[in-house]
Amino acid sequence: MIYLDSAATSLHRPESVIQAVCEGMQCLGNPGRGAYDAALEAGRTVYQARKKIGSLFGMEDPSRVVFTANVTEALNLAVSSLFGPGSHVITTCMEHNSVLRPLYRQESRGASLTILPCDEAGRLRYDLLEQAVRSETKGIVCTHASNLIGNLNDIRRIGRFCREHGLLFVLDAAQTAGIFPIHMEQDQIDVLCFTGHKGLLGPQGTGGLCVRNGIELESFCVGGSGVQSYRREQPRQMPERLEAGTANVHGIAGLLAAVEWLEETGISEIHRRETELMQRFYRGVCEIPNVKVYGDAALCSSGERAPVIALNIGGLPSDEVCDELAQEYGIAVRGGAHCAPLMHEALGTVEQGAVRFSFCFFNTEEEIDCAVQAVRKIAEEEVENGDG
Ligand code: ALA
Repeated sequence: MIYLDSAATSLHRPESVIQAVCEGMQCLGNPGRGAYDAALEAGRTVYQARKKIGSLFGMEDPSRVVFTANVTEALNLAVSSLFGPGSHVITTCMEHNSVLRPLYRQESRGASLTILPCDEAGRLRYDLLEQAVRSETKGIVCTHASNLIGNLNDIRRIGRFCREHGLLFVLDAAQTAGIFPIHMEQDQIDVLCFTGHKGLLGPQGTGGLCVRNGIELESFCVGGSGVQSYRREQPRQMPERLEAGTANVHGIAGLLAAVEWLEETGISEIHRRETELMQRFYRGVCEIPNVKVYGDAALCSSGERAPVIALNIGGLPSDEVCDELAQEYGIAVRGGAHCAPLMHEALGTVEQGAVRFSFCFFNTEEEIDCAVQAVRKIAEEEVENGDG
């Protein structure tokens, strides 16, 4: 199989990640719940993972790196804590449902929402940002990159805007953590939500948030914390305040190994390689008659875009194209709606969906060329069949 669906999850992982999970399952106990070796080693592993992730995102205090099961849980935690009834929140049409649904739920509880549109190339309309701010605006929640078309948002610009206007900045880094540099201080991010299983190359079931000092979140989940057990309330200290129950220590051990691998390899090298593969694919498909590529083409050539290309072939339903790619060519990609309803509305692809190709460090030039050839063949067949 040629795996080109890394925006959904990483399939190719460094060997050290797999090993760390397997070894963790054999020897790690419950962190903070015992004074014997296995529990202490688990505690050290989790602490080390907090430290490494904090340092990856420019966050000095490891206690403010909190683990969750995925980025969706992290975003739910941030949105429900920060944007209660009466508050106004700004977001964008580029968002995944992991941002939109928590916000819609807060809206149904009395918050209000402004959704910034994009232009026809899927670029955010920054010119509308200023006029979106009201006296009750509390923050901006947005993605770093569209999971559908890969267009990036300028987080430094948004962070600066938030700081100037006294707004909180919550970032969904699902598609960019591990691929682009992100820095809590320099980008003026208040809460950064990440997932472990995409660009960070860790296991599924890992994710979390980095919470700036001074911002206090409340978890909807309370319970065992290993500390202050005679209190009726969840401890106020971080990270226990936001982490109830046994952590996914085996997953976190894998995530730690993944972040160590990223450090050794270098985010800039990973970005360079993934961009090179994306550009190769883009150059191959953009000239094929009957193929429409979505998003900002200029970003494709400059590389300032997540390693994702969405396209359609004539009027073919995207799911049919994905099935053909999988069955005839052994190529794994994602079609349909990608949990990004507003982006599809903006592109006019609600009915057809789009065929999304997403690339990772471990893909090869040969795989990219096979995918281009497959798209070409399907496009030619469609023209021959008279559908083009
Ligand atoms: N959010 C993931 C995707 O875009 C699952 O495919």
